[in-house]
Amino acid sequence: MTTVYLNGQFLRLEQARISPLDRGFNYGDGVYEVVRAYRGRPFRLEAHFARLADSLAKIRLGVYLSPLTDVPARLVEENGLGGGDALIYLQVTRGAAPRQHAFPPPDTKATIFAYAWELTPNPAWSAPGLTVILAPDERWARCDIKVVSLVANVLAHQRAAERGAQEALLVRDGVVLEGTLSNFFAVFEGEVRTASLSNYILPGVTRALVLELCREHGIPCRETPIFHHELAQAEELFVSSTSFGVAPIHQLDGRTLPEARPVTERLQRLLGETIARECA
Ligand SMILES: Cc1ncc(COP(=O)(O)O)c(C=O)c1O
Repeated sequence: MTTVYLNGQFLRLEQARISPLDRGFNYGDGVYEVVRAYRGRPFRLEAHFARLADSLAKIRLGVYLSPLTDVPARLVEENGLGGGDALIYLQVTRGAAPRQHAFPPPDTKATIFAYAWELTPNPAWSAPGLTVILAPDERWARCDIKVVSLVANVLAHQRAAERGAQEALLVRDGVVLEGTLSNFFAVFEGEVRTASLSNYILPGVTRALVLELCREHGIPCRETPIFHHELAQAEELFVSSTSFGVAPIHQLDGRTLPEARPVTERLQRLLGETIARECA
């Protein structure tokens, strides 16, 4: 019996109803967040809500978020997920209204939906690490907004799955930008590099934390493009996301990477320590 949140109420999943005219359903006109809770405590909740506020502002949807900040912890508790790791999905759409591309009447209420489920991290994400492929980035030009319309991500991720891979790294104009659900990093001569923030990548909460940890612990890092043709020279490759944490890449397009990955492993350790401290 799953308890979900819909428009101010906690109710059973079977009782949750949204209109078929919802603009999230009809247009993909909405934004979302995925938060992780460790032992019942949401991690970096403020950063997730700040990004949600930013996504909402960018799609020009005004929603008062303060009443929602308790929703992730409450969903974890209501669903008995406090003993382990959980993911909480929170979606806000422009509400239900008869079809017209322009915004609906101003009194249209946003639809706000959230639910939580148990996350069992796959040990293979750390050892041996992820198998990934490269795929053309066929997304739109506002990848900085966490919109619910994810068809291009779905198609690239499916392409990876059909090749036995867990992630596809998206390449646009020769630059490896990010994954379908993760940010991408490469280590060159001990320096950690990742794409700079722009309209072509999502500002990942975990990405920001990885850079924060690098700066705090004296690990050289730089936000600069990683070109496709440079990948063969990288000593280590890894991705970051709320679900993966920091996960090393073991194989890229069938090529096995070196087993030694001291920088990635150090960042995994530092991330683990941060989580232990903040979710104690
Ligand atoms: C396209 C994309 N990039 C990066 C990320 C990683 O972001 P975060 O670390 O906030 O989970 C995600 C997460 O869903 C994503 O969908």
